Amino acid sequence: MPLTLTRDAGVPLHLQLAEQFRAAVRDGRLQAGHRLPSTRDLALELAVSRSVAQAAYDQLHAEGWIAGRTGSGTYVADVVPLQPSVRQRRKPVPEESEALLTLRPGIPYIATEPDAGWRRAWREVSTQAPPRGYDNPAGLPALRAELAEHVGRVRGIACEPENLLITNGTTHGLRLLLSVTQQPGARIAIEDPGYLNAVRAVRDHGLEVVDIPVDADGLKVSALQDDLSAVYVTPSHQYPLGGRLPVARRNELIRWARRTGATLIEDDYDSEFRYDVAPLPALAQLDLDQVVHLGTLSKMLSPALRLGWLVASPAVVDRLAAYRAQSGDWPGWPMQAALLAMLRDGYLDQVVRRGRRLYADRRNYTCSVLAPYGRIIGQDAGLHITLLLPPTTNDRAVAAQARAAGVQVAPLSDYRRSTPGPPGLVIGYATPTDPDLHAALAILVDVLSRAVGNNRR
Ligand SMILES: Cc1ncc(COP(=O)(O)O)c(C=O)c1O
Repeated sequence: MPLTLTRDAGVPLHLQLAEQFRAAVRDGRLQAGHRLPSTRDLALELAVSRSVAQAAYDQLHAEGWIAGRTGSGTYVADVVPLQPSVRQRRKPVPEESEALLTLRPGIPYIATEPDAGWRRAWREVSTQAPPRGYDNPAGLPALRAELAEHVGRVRGIACEPENLLITNGTTHGLRLLLSVTQQPGARIAIEDPGYLNAVRAVRDHGLEVVDIPVDADGLKVSALQDDLSAVYVTPSHQYPLGGRLPVARRNELIRWARRTGATLIEDDYDSEFRYDVAPLPALAQLDLDQVVHLGTLSKMLSPALRLGWLVASPAVVDRLAAYRAQSGDWPGWPMQAALLAMLRDGYLDQVVRRGRRLYADRRNYTCSVLAPYGRIIGQDAGLHITLLLPPTTNDRAVAAQARAAGVQVAPLSDYRRSTPGPPGLVIGYATPTDPDLHAALAILVDVLSRAVGNNRR
């Protein structure tokens, strides 16, 4: 078997030698049981020192390619070569959506340049050494304390640090809760129309989704059956229709949960951004033994931060944290430390105040432009409005026409499951720049005037 060593190849001689033996076994030139030359003979033949041959054999032996070196010589081990895997190279798919203007809901306005508050927070993080071990799986103690104060002040939930668990956002918190607290076969109610990621999370856990209708005020509490083990609800701004669950219905929901023992999972979606009156306190304010509250940074700063919080009874928080201690699945220290700095600095409050001003203007503009084409609902809060279209309209076709004209927008039918209702478009006004919002709405108006006419309602 020819062996060639190159002295200036940048790879040590013993590794070159070992690789040539491996290649010979892989392609069948060396078979199991084949006897190899002694290190002395090999070294002589290749004009290298014996330590080079020895190091090559040591390496091959350690990896299992050769065996039985002492006494009876060195043999090729019984290694059945693997067929090389055929790697499927996927053709890069051009990011078509990048070229489109977006009116999809769910993402706030994110400026291209970071502002001073953001930079201050990260400077603060950069001056600290990382923790000297695993963090507390419930989250940084100082952040839990700061957030307890924050949700008390902003959402009216009287709570202690022991009630807080830091998550990677709403969906992460929901999935964790389902994993730890729900038994196989559990029936989980979700608003219909509602948040599709919540539906997916429940189904992924092998649990049953029960569709609960929604009206202008939000979840129809009277439709809840007593065998449900949890209800996923967006009381501050029903997603996507925008109703605000009134006090009487909130009380009814809490009474129902106390009677049946079901857990109420409150997605506090959009609560920060209300344009008419101050937000109602969170549902969790009424009973933390019955409600698990999910908050997120996704709407205030960016969904890419993957940071949120869960507020629940200390018993539930302890169970979730114990589970996480095993799974290792909790938010990394830097983002937690940055949020702590942002809260202490007042930056988060500042971002919300700034956002509310910006979004209020955009909402007014969006409503004024779209009012002639349908009935606008859910405009008092959040980062989107819903435009209800005449009953015979195919909203998916309208969304497809908008897409073809360069604008992404979500058809309301995509959010509906079994409860029928009028067609519509869910239109987010937060994400684009002002000029892009204007351009996107102009295109949408064009599409709508062809699809539904100008109804001047
Ligand atoms: C109803 C609702 N809840 C919560 C979220 C945010 O989820 P996350 O915190 O996992 O980013 C969204 C995002 O679009 C949403 O639409």
